[in-house]
Amino acid sequence: MISNQLTNKRVLLGVTGGIAAYKSAEICRRLQDEGAEVRTAMTAAAQEFITPLTLQALSKNPVHLDLLDPETESAMGHIELARWADLILIAPASANFISRLAQGRGDDLLTAICLAADCKVAIAPAMNRSMWEKEVTQKNLAQTKSVGISVFAPGEGEQACGETGVGRLLDVPDIILLACELFETGVLSGKKVVVTAGPTREAIDPIRYISNHSSGKQGYAIAEAAAEAGANVVLISGPTNLPKPDRAQLIKVESAGQMLDAVLDQVPGTDVFISVAAVADFKTKLTAPNKIKKNVNGNLTIELSRTPDILSEVTKIKGNHLFTVGFAAETENLLENANSKLKEKKLDMIVANDVSDSEIGFNSDLNEATVLTPKTSINLPKANKTQLARNLIEIISEQLAGFGTDARARS
Ligand code: PMT
Repeated sequence: MISNQLTNKRVLLGVTGGIAAYKSAEICRRLQDEGAEVRTAMTAAAQEFITPLTLQALSKNPVHLDLLDPETESAMGHIELARWADLILIAPASANFISRLAQGRGDDLLTAICLAADCKVAIAPAMNRSMWEKEVTQKNLAQTKSVGISVFAPGEGEQACGETGVGRLLDVPDIILLACELFETGVLSGKKVVVTAGPTREAIDPIRYISNHSSGKQGYAIAEAAAEAGANVVLISGPTNLPKPDRAQLIKVESAGQMLDAVLDQVPGTDVFISVAAVADFKTKLTAPNKIKKNVNGNLTIELSRTPDILSEVTKIKGNHLFTVGFAAETENLLENANSKLKEKKLDMIVANDVSDSEIGFNSDLNEATVLTPKTSINLPKANKTQLARNLIEIISEQLAGFGTDARARS
């Protein structure tokens, strides 16, 4: 299943020599499906099983082959590659490679990259079952694990050599799943997070409505990021064209009134409420039961009334346990207006979003914001909405740490 869990993640896929090397092409594709940017490096033995050209075509980048190749080293050397990557995934990892990794060798490109890396490193071993069972192999694996390298243990079954046992490269979807799990932070583990997203629609008559340009992208990305951080997530969404995030409960609503009811239902037991929805501020005072005919004389006047302010209703009843985060979509005086909303709505945090720039904000894939709390101001630089969501969740989790005490002190 594609869920973009590796969006903005840079994965260096290392391939070592073994018959399973041909599966690295599929691994490269599936990593990209999850949103990762992939570069590849191969040992000399790997090139006996699959050509660099295949991985070059799939990754759309030159394949790194030699430690001392002046051409690739001048473009991106092994140290730079190690710094570039968020994850180094060696799949398949042969017994020989694991042995050299365990010894901390750095005499070829892949071992040198692993030695220089500060990022996550994972290996997916693949070898003959006797080689896997050998005490020395198991010792090498224990050694690699002890220095923080993740091992995606091989599967059991028929092997290319004709034998049956443990040593087959783990199935590609399982490798991808484990790679994604490496980025799950767990910082919101055990927390219930409610997120609102998208626009609301306020009916004028059965076929017309008042609404806005919110696509739901930012709210859905925040729901995803909270789930990625281990939270139990409820996403309350106005009408959007987005697929349901994998690990969130989705409640679909249309109007501000319905959104308010759904939110109030969820408040008990909620630890964090994030109000990303662009709730319509006005609705018609009366909704026409039938389509309004255009043959009314001249202009049509519709009387509007305010919709409920969902955030304010939540802060009225929230007590000390619920951390409330609002968004402020502003076209002028961004920080000043956002700060006023932070105070007026009695929020714990507000995300100031300049929506005058068409590159960010409504309906765009990018966003940029400033996170304000009563005490701090943090800039979230321009990034895609997934990345911004991850950064925001990180900040919320940090604020939550001191929240109980701070909130009690304020009340
Ligand atoms: O959906 P996208 O296309 O990805 O765009 C994202 C976004 C621009 C909609 C989002 O980043 C954003 O800025 N959301 C807030 C939109 C908004 O309505 O801002 P506001 O300044 O009008 O409202 C302030 C806060 O009060 C918001 O948290 C809003 O959810 C909440 N509110 C507003 C009106 C209302 N009746 N009830 C509310 O709870």
